[in-house]
Amino acid sequence: MEKIIIKGRERLHGSIAVSGAKNAALPIMTASLLTREKTLIHNIPDLRDVRTISDLLRIFGARVEDRGNGTFEIDGSSVHHHEAPYELVKTMRASCMVLGPLLARLGRAKVSLPGGCAIGERPINLHLKGLETLGAKIKLEHGYVIAEADRLKGGRIYFDIPTVTGTMNIMMAAVLAEGDTLLENAAKEPEIADLADMLRKMGAKIEGDGADTISITGVTSLHGVEHTIIPDRIETGTFIIAAAITGGEVKITNCIPDHSESLIMKLRESGLEIKPGKTTILIKGNGKIEGVDVETSPYPGFPTDMQAQIMSLLCIAKGTSIITETVFENRFMHVSELRRMGADIRIRGQSATVRGVGGLSGAPLMATDLRASASLLLAALAAEGESVISRVYHIDRGYERIEEKLSKLGANIRRVR
Ligand code: EPU
Repeated sequence: MEKIIIKGRERLHGSIAVSGAKNAALPIMTASLLTREKTLIHNIPDLRDVRTISDLLRIFGARVEDRGNGTFEIDGSSVHHHEAPYELVKTMRASCMVLGPLLARLGRAKVSLPGGCAIGERPINLHLKGLETLGAKIKLEHGYVIAEADRLKGGRIYFDIPTVTGTMNIMMAAVLAEGDTLLENAAKEPEIADLADMLRKMGAKIEGDGADTISITGVTSLHGVEHTIIPDRIETGTFIIAAAITGGEVKITNCIPDHSESLIMKLRESGLEIKPGKTTILIKGNGKIEGVDVETSPYPGFPTDMQAQIMSLLCIAKGTSIITETVFENRFMHVSELRRMGADIRIRGQSATVRGVGGLSGAPLMATDLRASASLLLAALAAEGESVISRVYHIDRGYERIEEKLSKLGANIRRVR
């Protein structure tokens, strides 16, 4: 078991480049199942979840080749198998996004139903309802979703909740369906627009991505493509907070500042100096952070994937902050660990009241999920003394070589076995 050891209170300084977005890379790699031709994808981050999706695509018969430097070549010419086994799906829920492409390409898919998750129930009922509207016959058997359709037919789908992977799943099914599909109350996250860009380059007809109504006209086949994944806005946000929490001065490069707008606005409100450029963000921490209230919501609102990290910062802010989580029902798992570091946090329902304390102290810590582990790491950077974070495999799902990147900025951080 690997652990990350951090000695806190080093001010971070220097510049750091953001990697490709995990939540764009996963669906985009999945979309390569939609063509018999080769796809070449650049800026894929080196993450555990990327290795999981590669293994899954290989199970279906695709050839997935890591060409190095973040470039993958995926050859879907011999895709023939349609079953995503429990062993892989249980390690990564995003695996359920293969449902749409497999149905569109092979006319059938058998995908293990993802179970509960550390951050909430996370059902996939809206994915299934959408596929049914496109004409798929769906049954649940022995823990698996079995979906079949000769050829999907376009339809009108209203999502009760804007679901990110649900929107992507249906979009990937609809591009090869017969006729027109309208997705209403669709999610608007930038990763959806990145997937739509890739699909359009493959020959798909999609309009409106990035807004809440997406229209798709099905085509009979898609072709190979070369595509570069957008930068990861959650990694960007995590580095912004790393700079702020240590009172450091950091330039983040290779990012899209617009994608972090809600976070930047919130941090400015708390007194932080942030200067976005075209593809850079400069943060000057002065160590003086005021408490602010935060409420998560779908994009362009404040991202639930940044809720745990901003909580770590607000633990040492001046005054009281109220953080309300509206997207997932159980996303405060980091709170009990932060309390062990001296944080004053009280939870009532979906809100956490954070009273700023003078400082945190290092402690042995347990990561529970990806973003919760990022928040512990950030708190440890600010804490006095040593913190040892265990179960770091959670952090490796979504952050590429985090300890290398942070130590280049001057953090005292190392990984041990
Ligand atoms: N929901 C339903 N039924 C569905 C689908 C979703 O009730 O069929 C509910 C969920 O339970 C949740 C809400 O709708 O309460 C929104 O969930 P959504 O479907 O948008 O989440 P997701 O697609 O499963 C993606 C990201 C998450 C991120 C959320 C919200 C990927 C692979 N995952 O999940 O990322 O938190 O959107 O932005 O894109 C992470 O990277 O750490 C992560 C968890």
